[in-house]
Amino acid sequence: MNDKVVLITGAKGGLGTSVTQRFLAAGATVIGASRTISNDDFPAPNFTALPVDFTKSAAVRDAVESIVARHGKLDVLVHVLGGFAGGQSVAETDDATWDQMRDLNLTSAFYILRAAIPHLRKSGKGRIVAIGSLAAAEPHAGLAAYVTFKSALATLVRTVALENRDAGLTANVILPGTMDTPANRKSMPGADFAKWLQPAAVADLALWLAAEDSGHLTGLTIPIE
Ligand SMILES: NC(=O)c1ccc[n+]([C@@H]2O[C@H](COP(=O)([O-])OP(=O)(O)OC[C@H]3O[C@@H](n4cnc5c(N)ncnc54)[C@H](OP(=O)(O)O)[C@@H]3O)[C@@H](O)[C@H]2O)c1
Repeated sequence: MNDKVVLITGAKGGLGTSVTQRFLAAGATVIGASRTISNDDFPAPNFTALPVDFTKSAAVRDAVESIVARHGKLDVLVHVLGGFAGGQSVAETDDATWDQMRDLNLTSAFYILRAAIPHLRKSGKGRIVAIGSLAAAEPHAGLAAYVTFKSALATLVRTVALENRDAGLTANVILPGTMDTPANRKSMPGADFAKWLQPAAVADLALWLAAEDSGHLTGLTIPIE
């Protein structure tokens, strides 16, 4: 990854931290983005923090342009950002939950894909890796807003794969099961943490999909648990 410029969204979250560390260790020039991220979060010479709210269209476009202005190109987008809410049936789901799940899991992806694709196409070996959810591979009672927008995310990314094959740009979606993150440990203290997926395993898969050698793999949704 030594010559690659990589943008990671949701970079300081439970999974994003592992993904960011993995790409930094692989030698990539990593731009880690979230609303509150700073350079102190990942003290490494090849890391740059990019504070941005991905639910704001113009801010996302400006963020991508700032990356290309500074680094000259963009090779890889790892779109980790997402959010979870559950526990309500469709009949009980309030507007705020629906809107939040749409903005965090789908609209943010649309904004960053739209802004990044022209630059990723220029890379010649551009790579998009998005994080969906194993829970969204099928409908789940009580998770309507989450699974609806996560499954739409997978459709969006697979469409991007179809539209950009000609430019050597691949786009794939990883579908993780429940991960061993600090937030999950806090919200489910009685669970058997040993049964959960390690974020590092997801980070390894993301790195593999981002590699030049993975150019034959596109439009995939890959479950991992
Ligand atoms: N955790 C699981 O078990 C699990 C299972 C399956 C799939 N997933 C998926 O995996 C991904 C990562 O999950 P996670 O549990 O690691 O998430 P997380 O810990 O909640 O991290 C979310 C990250 O997104 C950033 N963020 C939130 N809202 C933002 C916004 N509007 N604009 C920019 N950045 C924003 C947060 O940082 P700031 O607060 O600084 O913005 C944070 O870095 C998500 O897509 C999630 O749906 C998770």
